[in-house]
Amino acid sequence: MTTPFAPRVFSGMQPTGNLHLGNYLGAMVNWIAMQSTHQCIYCVVDLHAITVAQDPVALRRAIIEVTAAYLACGLDPKQSIIFNQSQVAEHAELAWIFNCVARLGWLNRMTQFKEKAGKDRENVAVGLYAYPVLMAADILVYKATHVPVGDDQKQHLELSRDIAQKFNMDFAGSIASHGFGEVFFPLPEPMITGPATRVMSLRDGTKKMSKSDVSDYSRINLTDSPEAIAQKIRKAKTDPEPLPSEEKGLAGRAEAENLVGIYAALTGADVSSVLGEFGGGQFSRFKTALADAAVARLSPISADMRRWLDDEGAVEAVLAEGSARARAIAAPVMREVRDIVGLLRSR
Ligand code: TYM
Repeated sequence: MTTPFAPRVFSGMQPTGNLHLGNYLGAMVNWIAMQSTHQCIYCVVDLHAITVAQDPVALRRAIIEVTAAYLACGLDPKQSIIFNQSQVAEHAELAWIFNCVARLGWLNRMTQFKEKAGKDRENVAVGLYAYPVLMAADILVYKATHVPVGDDQKQHLELSRDIAQKFNMDFAGSIASHGFGEVFFPLPEPMITGPATRVMSLRDGTKKMSKSDVSDYSRINLTDSPEAIAQKIRKAKTDPEPLPSEEKGLAGRAEAENLVGIYAALTGADVSSVLGEFGGGQFSRFKTALADAAVARLSPISADMRRWLDDEGAVEAVLAEGSARARAIAAPVMREVRDIVGLLRSR
């Protein structure tokens, strides 16, 4: 069946502290590239951030900082819609409807909830459990068709597809009788592509690089100084063997594989040519080259971010304008959802 939906991209990042190299290589580089081929909507997902306790002052700051990072990385508010989730109430409204569509059994399978809730499951916020339902609403309130993310979001996006499909089936009669065609929501496609869909911690190559890791040495933040970047890479965990000359030699060497993958992603080279250049040599020479590549890529971004942060009003203006544009798409979709479900519209 050909899809009746115009291609549209949606994705988001949480404003919980600084963005790091995993966010950048796993998602942001694809976001930037897609701007020239698609209509793109990029969101700062502040309602997701509050699923765990946040200090209000720090949250407000983080929303501004993550937006500044978006802009400094190369998202263009003239080309794409850039906004924060809480300014478009339709996200939360559709999430409630989807809470009544999604099944408990589906959410019980979410591995990220199990990891985040840990042993204290009885004590975490209901919002943390319903987190992926809000993600589905984020995407579908724009009828977005493509969602560029890192590998860790794959299961959540499968759930978004399940929710879209169940809504389309549960309300098939009403969708047709309102003249909305055969299917109301598209099944959004995850776009998990590129050389670094899963960047790992610099301290433990079996754990993903994450904002919530207690050790700042586990990650490279977009705001790190050149000295901090070089030091973190120097201290990055490795093993005693020299780098292999061929890709198969990386098997079972999680830290080496991760660092080589990061270098390849930063320089645009493929892994085999990186190993061709550095294979057989000591990590120290490779780490110096890696630090240089990371600094070359990230320094202009942190400098531009500082420029944006000198003018917070300009950042807020981008969010206000983006929110108005986002609302203009989301509001009519939500009105149709109310019709389909059988809720009265306000006159
Ligand atoms: P968040 O804020 O954890 O991460 C933002 C993006 O960065 C990717 N990412 C990584 N990629 C590679 N390696 C890593 N170590 C790494 N860490 C993070 C994530 O996959 C993500 O693409 N739930 C989402 C935000 C969200 C969203 C959405 C995304 C809310 N609604 C709707 C897409 C569509 C999240 O917490 O991302």
